[in-house]
Amino acid sequence: MRDIKAYKEQKIAELREKIGGVSAPDSKKALLGLSGGVDSSVCCALLAQAIGKRLFCIFVDHGLMRKNEGDEVEAAFGNMDINFIRVDAGARFLGKLAGITEPEQKRKIIGEEFIRVFEEEAKKLGEIDFLAQGTISLDVIESKGAIKAHHNVGGLPDSMNFKEIIEPLKELNKEEVRELGRELGLPAPLTDRQPFPGPGLAVRCIGELTKERLDILREADYIFRSELTGAGIDKDVSQCFAALTDMKAVGIKDGKRTYGYIAVLRAVRTTDFMNAEVVRIPYEVLEKVSAKITSVVDGISRVVYDITDKPPGTIELE
Ligand code: XMP
Repeated sequence: MRDIKAYKEQKIAELREKIGGVSAPDSKKALLGLSGGVDSSVCCALLAQAIGKRLFCIFVDHGLMRKNEGDEVEAAFGNMDINFIRVDAGARFLGKLAGITEPEQKRKIIGEEFIRVFEEEAKKLGEIDFLAQGTISLDVIESKGAIKAHHNVGGLPDSMNFKEIIEPLKELNKEEVRELGRELGLPAPLTDRQPFPGPGLAVRCIGELTKERLDILREADYIFRSELTGAGIDKDVSQCFAALTDMKAVGIKDGKRTYGYIAVLRAVRTTDFMNAEVVRIPYEVLEKVSAKITSVVDGISRVVYDITDKPPGTIELE
């Protein structure tokens, strides 16, 4: 394990050298895309300590967040001593994604739109010199292998207007990022949070993305995660979520025939996110989750549990 305290001091010194200190009058400005996930949160805390109000955090709510997540992110960062800007861009993203079903195309559109929104916001702020990103080592490794066009590494359009991209977490693995977060004084709910992909629920919603289908997914996902927490299982899980397929099946509800989507539950355990094993969730818990989702969520008629390890599967569905 790397010496995180030394890493923090070194990065703060480097960032100040490059961008300017908290009180330097002629400091340049940096812009960070804050998603509320571990990586961007830690990146934000590091930059906040290094450059304070020179930091402009833009939280793009792309409409692909989990239930209540947008408001939670705002609650966590809105009061910090930084410039926090929330952009409600859900309708805009869904407009661009209309009719798109191919996974890599979805990622590319989301990545490009993300940057466009950034550029627009940056223009409003005047001269912005640096674009900060919470890229970590796994993102770099997987993008080099062309496994996926991770939007924060591989999908940047050429027309970007920022002078330089800074990625202060690039050398770190996930555990080291969490450790750095603790070192920076971030609360446990933020540092211990499960990873959530940049393109959000887009990679967990097979087929076309519509508000209606995303709302269905949000409800199912919320029920699954809440039940795992309630059963005390979430501590053994590295990542868990519900996904929505584009397949429908016939069911029965209140004595009437239904025709709804098949939802997939996924829970994996991993240390490096390159390999992952399926968590053996007690059957009673799965039964309870299935019963709750099919009774509470209109639009889902069946629930299945994904028993595919990584490899051969990936953690996300797309
Ligand atoms: P996979 O599905 O490749 O996921 O086994 C490995 C880890 O990466 C996350 N992931 C992403 N993160 N943009 C991201 O920022 C993406 O496009 C993306 N795709 C997957 C995934 O949640 C898991 O933690």
